[in-house]
Amino acid sequence: MRYRGNPEAVRALVQPDRVHRDLYLDPELFQLEQEHFFANTWNYIGHDSQIPQVGDYLTVDVANRPLVAVRHTDGSVRVLMNRCAHKGSRLVTAPSGNTGKFFRCPYHAWTFRTDGTTLGVPLRKGYQGTAMADSEAGQGIVALRHVRLYRGFIFARINEVGPSFEDYFGDSLSSIDNMADRSPQGELEIAGGCLRYVHACNWKMFIENLNDTMHPMVAHESSAGTAKAMWKDQPADAPKPMAIEQFMPFVNDYPFFDEMGVRVFDNGHSFSGVKFSLHSHYSAIPAYDEAMKQAYGDDRARAIIGLARHNTVYYPTLTIKGAIQAIRVIRPIAVDKTLVESWTFRLKGAPPELLQRTCTYSRLINSPFSVVGHDDLHAYRGIQEGLRASGNDWVSLHRDFDEAEIGKPDLTVNGTSEISMRNQYRAWARYMTLTMTE
Ligand code: FES
Ligand SMILES: [Fe+2]
Repeated sequence: MRYRGNPEAVRALVQPDRVHRDLYLDPELFQLEQEHFFANTWNYIGHDSQIPQVGDYLTVDVANRPLVAVRHTDGSVRVLMNRCAHKGSRLVTAPSGNTGKFFRCPYHAWTFRTDGTTLGVPLRKGYQGTAMADSEAGQGIVALRHVRLYRGFIFARINEVGPSFEDYFGDSLSSIDNMADRSPQGELEIAGGCLRYVHACNWKMFIENLNDTMHPMVAHESSAGTAKAMWKDQPADAPKPMAIEQFMPFVNDYPFFDEMGVRVFDNGHSFSGVKFSLHSHYSAIPAYDEAMKQAYGDDRARAIIGLARHNTVYYPTLTIKGAIQAIRVIRPIAVDKTLVESWTFRLKGAPPELLQRTCTYSRLINSPFSVVGHDDLHAYRGIQEGLRASGNDWVSLHRDFDEAEIGKPDLTVNGTSEISMRNQYRAWARYMTLTMTE
């Protein structure tokens, strides 16, 4: 037990320009991440549109705690520990469903309102004269106090300490705003189910890769490069099929990725594609442009559609592609195993071509049966294997390191810098040790 009760040793794993390989390999650190890091950060739970009716719920594990998000009778969203106040049974087991006005524990039928307060206990007189009512069991289901909905995205923090939602995410929320503003009605809704893709790697490799702009032209050469080669003899003005349009930018050259820029925010958040991105040159959808102009006026509609950021990382669990209305969420399972969930969104009030574009992108790039996503997974597995080698305990993040970047809450630099990863690990060290005692 090298790290438990030793916050100094944990901090020493993150240096300004490199991180120790234990971050990806050590099961004890993974366990401590569950106890501390994920409980101290704001994590994505789900989307408002998944639980529209009173009693609708979804279940999710965050920081190794079973949670249930539910639409309460007053219309608000509550996030509760999915644990009966009696002997601890999960209240609900399905990924989602409707519980009506209350939860009924499947073991001894204690019932709880959807805000967690106790509704009924069978044969209550058996508790007369006991300490049950004053104990934890008498307080009902534990409800999270730090829950926040932002443009329909539900976030929660488990522990009491730490920054407010606004302070934690700061101006990075502009990427969620842009994704929702792309709807002529300003609202998003989840479309269809979830594509679940288990990655044989530590969760950090996936999150780091989202703003790693030095890999696409290399790792995706076999997939996107093949699409490009197939298309090379077409006249310049030939209309591109959607798949070709989506594949080809992955093999753009180094100057493209460098010039697109990366912006980092305090607490580990970042996005690539400050000036333009892989999504900037998709063909226009005239009926959509018209609907946007009607809703927002010419200038604002152009500004919303023109802001085509690539990946935004809402550290540590949510990553979004606002311009394509797709998100990926990480659910860490073990030190070398991560579930990646892909969700697609419908822009309310937009023509169906938009959802078709999103679904095509998810299939081609993000899903378990995509070709591009496999390139990335192959790289992560390679790292997970390679890091077991001895003789070098450190992972280099030196690219474009500048000491002046440390402590800056908001910084925009060239797109091929490894600043987003350094920024993630500074936040990792902070939130890992926030609640750790010696
Ligand atoms: S464990 Fe839930 S009622 Fe007993
Ligand atoms: Fe990639």
